Order: sequence, then structure tokens, then C-alpha cells
Amino acid sequence: MKLNILVTAGDGIGPEVTNEAVEVMKTVAQMGGHTLEFNARRIGGTAIINDGTPLPEDTLKAALDSDAVLLGAVGGNEFNSLAPDKRPEAGLLAIRSALGGFANLRPAFAFKELAVNSPLRPEIIDGADILFVRELLGGLYFGKPREWNRTTGEAWNTMRYTKDEVARVARIAFQLAQKRRKKLTSVDKANVLEVSQLWRDTVIEVAKEFPDVALEHQYVDAMAMHLMNRPKEFDVVLTENLFGDILSDESGVITGSIGMLPSATIGGKVNLYEPIHGSAPDIAGKGLANPLGAILTGALVLRHSGGLEAEAAAIEKAVRKALELGFRTPDLARANPQGFPVLSTKEMGAKVRELLTAGK
Ligand code: NAD
Ligand code: IPM
Ligand code: MN
Repeated sequence: MKLNILVTAGDGIGPEVTNEAVEVMKTVAQMGGHTLEFNARRIGGTAIINDGTPLPEDTLKAALDSDAVLLGAVGGNEFNSLAPDKRPEAGLLAIRSALGGFANLRPAFAFKELAVNSPLRPEIIDGADILFVRELLGGLYFGKPREWNRTTGEAWNTMRYTKDEVARVARIAFQLAQKRRKKLTSVDKANVLEVSQLWRDTVIEVAKEFPDVALEHQYVDAMAMHLMNRPKEFDVVLTENLFGDILSDESGVITGSIGMLPSATIGGKVNLYEPIHGSAPDIAGKGLANPLGAILTGALVLRHSGGLEAEAAAIEKAVRKALELGFRTPDLARANPQGFPVLSTKEMGAKVRELLTAGK
């Protein structure tokens, strides 16, 4: 098995965490006799500085020629005054759009060992296991018209979806629910927005193809509350682009840190893999970043793009083992009553590799 992976590490903690993910993937591939070929290209702020654009042609071409793209994160405070279409984030949106993946899978789960790090009570989160399916190519992020008219002092964005765009992501969510606990929660704002009424109507129609999956609807405001009050009751959560962005960050509270959460985007020409966190300028360059979200994202690359289930599971097991043995990065040790060892980004990556090799 040979897999050609493009790494777009990006900005801030992006390079720090993707380095560890790549090393872990190399270790597990070597153990199984598989060849992973890694190439690197610029994206985001580093590409603006070096190439004058957040998504250089050369990066896009390499991405389209690869079997999978692993992205770190983009963005930095020095770019905050740029217009949205010039910012590092525009590079991310452009690569998402070019690769064509519309279903962004964001698993959020509670590790028993990290319960102490969550502000939620252990009995609330213990056993929580949610799969967010976030529509990634529509809604306010891409809808037109969009403009800031500085003369009139007005600005507008457009939340737009077609029935087909909703149906295709809904189908993926139902299929995934069939393989899990057969429950799907569709999140919208159908009490206010026409686009959400179309969303709900379409989801109800698609649900007829999946009679074994129980479907419920929640408004996004109430969902933000239910997620914190009773996270264990949710299985697959299907929602549009912006609502999914917000709710998946919120689910970092269930896991104990946003630094734990991976994602995979499927349905397009080339799958795109990214931890859900950003470039974290507040901790960048200090070795404080948690690489486990990126490492778990590496596991998703192997599972979804390489069909390497055993290797993916081995990475996930090594991550769990590191937590069981008490190893923590600073974000996982805000509450550390047992005085567990707190590791740097690189040390945590090395620990996962050590446990991978030991668990062979
Ligand atoms: P962020 O996710 O970068 O950080 C939010 C908070 O979580 C910060 O306190 C940060 O230190 C912490 N955090 C994030 N990842 C962590 C990790 N792996 N380990 C430990 N702590 C971690 O969100 P933000 O601060 O709102 O955004 C910063 C920049 O990142 C912005 O430019 C934003 O647009 C960009 N961003 C990029 C992506 C992406 O490229 N996929 C995702 C989200 C945000
Ligand atoms: C994410 C990020 C991106 C998004 C930004 C950086 C464009 O927040 O991946 O969650 O909003 O999709
Ligand atoms: Mn986000």
C-alpha cells in the first residue's frame, strides 16, 4: 500500500502539531510495511508572506495530485486587518472548495481520563460519543452576494443552500448513523430562516431512505444548551456550515480540550484532513500545543484514504494509552490534582510513538 499525502502545515501551531502527526504516521506505516510519501506545501499566512497569496497555484496542484491532504491550521493576528478574501483563512476555504469535500466529519468524544479537565461533571460527559457532520461548502461561507459597503455603512453575507447540497450531506450523515447508534439530530434555525426550512424539509425527505435511523430536529440555540446538558444522548449531529463550526468547537468542552479533536472531509476529489482547532497564536512557537488532535487526524487519513483500519486503530489506542498512563499537555492539565507529567508538543508526539511501538 502506497499513499501520497500532501502536508499543508500552515501557521502558528499548525507546523508543530502536523510534524508530530507525520512522525506518528510514519512509525505506524513502517510497522505495517506500508509506504507513505509526504510532500509539503505552503498555505495561509506563510504563503501570503512567501508567495503573495494564501493558496499558491503550486499548492493547489500538489493537493489535487495527492491521495490525501493533511492541513495544520491557518491564520495569525498580523493578518486581521485584511479583507476576508485576502486573509489566510481564504486559502483554507479555497482549498476546501477546490478539493470538493462537502461532508466534514468531526468526531467528539469524552476520554474518561480527561473528565477532570472539563468544567462539566464526569457523569454528564462519561461515555459521550458524538459525530458532527458539518456541511462544508455552502451557507454563509460561500453564499453570494457578500460585501461590506463602506460608503453606506452596510455589509451583507448570504446564507444559501440548494436542495441537492442539503440532500447529499444528509445522505452521508444517515449512512454514518446506520453504522453507529442509528440516531440523527439535524440542527437548524427553521423557526426563523427560509434556508433552514429548506434544510429541514430536505432532511425529512432523505430520512425516508433510512427508516432504521431515528431522526430528530433541534434549533441551533437550544442545541448549544442540550450539548452541554446531555451530550451522551446525541449520536450523529448533522448541520450547516456555520452552525457546525460553532457547535464543534463547543464540543471541545466535552472532550476537555479543543486540541483533542480531529476531522476528515469527504465526498470530493481528494479528502482533506484537519484538526478542528486553529493556529492558536497565543501559544504558538512555545511547544505548548497539544498534538493529539492532529495525531488522531493522521489516524483518519489512514482509515479513510488508505483503508488502513488496523494502523488507524493502533494510533488511537496509543493516544488512549498515553492518557491512561497520565501523560498530559498543558491544555489537558488545567486541573491536575494527581500531578501528572506535563509534556511538550514534541514529547507528547514521541510518547505516542513509543507506545505505538511497544503495543505492537
Ligand atoms: P484557536 O482554535 O486557534 O484557539 C482557541 C483557543 O484554544 C486558544 O486559547 C488556543 O491556545 C487553544 N488551542 C487551540 N488548539 C490548541 C491545541 N492544539 N493545544 C492547546 N491549545 C489549543 O482559535 P482562535 O484563537 O479563535 O483562532 C486563531 C486563528 O486560527 C484565527 O486566525 C482563526 O481564523 C484561525 N483558525 C484556523 C483554523 C484552521 O486553519 N483549520 C481553525 C480555527 C481557527
Ligand atoms: C474551522 C475554522 C475555519 C472555519 C476558518 C478558519 C475558515 O474555524 O475549520 O473550524 O470556519 O471553517
Ligand atoms: Mn472553527
